[in-house]
Amino acid sequence: MKEVFQPNLLSSKVAFVTGGGSGINQRIAEQFAEAGAAVAIMGRDRNKAEAAASLIREAGGQAIGLSGDVRNHDQVSAALYETNKEFGRLDIVVAGAAGNFVARATGMSANGFKTVIDIDLLGTFNTAHAAYEYLAKPGGLVLAISAVQSTLPTVTQSHVCAAKAGVDMLIKTLAIEWGQTGIRCVGIAPGPVGDTEGMKRLAPDGKASWDRILGHIPSRRAASQDEIASLALFLASQGGQYINGTIIPIDGGQTAVGSYE
Ligand code: HXC
Repeated sequence: MKEVFQPNLLSSKVAFVTGGGSGINQRIAEQFAEAGAAVAIMGRDRNKAEAAASLIREAGGQAIGLSGDVRNHDQVSAALYETNKEFGRLDIVVAGAAGNFVARATGMSANGFKTVIDIDLLGTFNTAHAAYEYLAKPGGLVLAISAVQSTLPTVTQSHVCAAKAGVDMLIKTLAIEWGQTGIRCVGIAPGPVGDTEGMKRLAPDGKASWDRILGHIPSRRAASQDEIASLALFLASQGGQYINGTIIPIDGGQTAVGSYE
């Protein structure tokens, strides 16, 4: 977002982004790199993570791709170790990896529910917990990617709603526990974001699904990935340094609307 932010906003900073091989998290990694940060992208699919890192390098940025599943603490620790070895410090951790499928509670198994809790909630804990020893103190940031589902009960999303509500409380609690060290813990809660895997799943019928979803949003449109990444960039920048222990909605007003408009 060259028209909004000064160049080199994050120069000399190092960021670690989970789920950075696609979607919002990839765009966050790219904006961080455009702002001068060195970026480590971790994903379950090493090829996707490496492809995203390679795009950043081709654009003149610094990036590496690492494999790891956020459900596995050892794998996250190993990726953070590699990041520290490569770049020598850690300033920003984005807990972005998420899982989702569309099913009513009666249509999912206990393991299906647990899978999303493990990726979204346990994965955020593992990422923050494993990063703690490396994060700059003061100055470190743990940024969780929550969702409006953390406060808006959503049919077919019981697993995501429960997981993201947990993510919000985890972030607030870590902010209190870690505040004295100078590490900040913040969440952002996007509504619908265009061209993402999550929205493809929630809007399987294309335009008809989109019209129904956007009809509940005061701004009557989805966010762009750039808009979500720009909020992440602001929070990581000097301008965001007093924002801590909170979850910031970025949803075109979706969570301001009650059941009736
Ligand atoms: C019912 C389902 C299901 C479905 C999977 N399961 N898909 N149940 N309906 N459509 C069940 C399986 O049957 C299994 O339970 C359990 O979930 C685990 O499935 P696996 O395929 O073995 O798991 P895994 O390979 O780890 O894949 C995890 C996943 C998958 C979440 C199911 O979709 C995934 O990897 N997603 C990552 C990408 C993604 O989802 N991105 C979107 C994030 S968007 P049983 O009992 O059979 O063993 C997002 C934003 C949220 O999070 C806000 C919404 C916009």
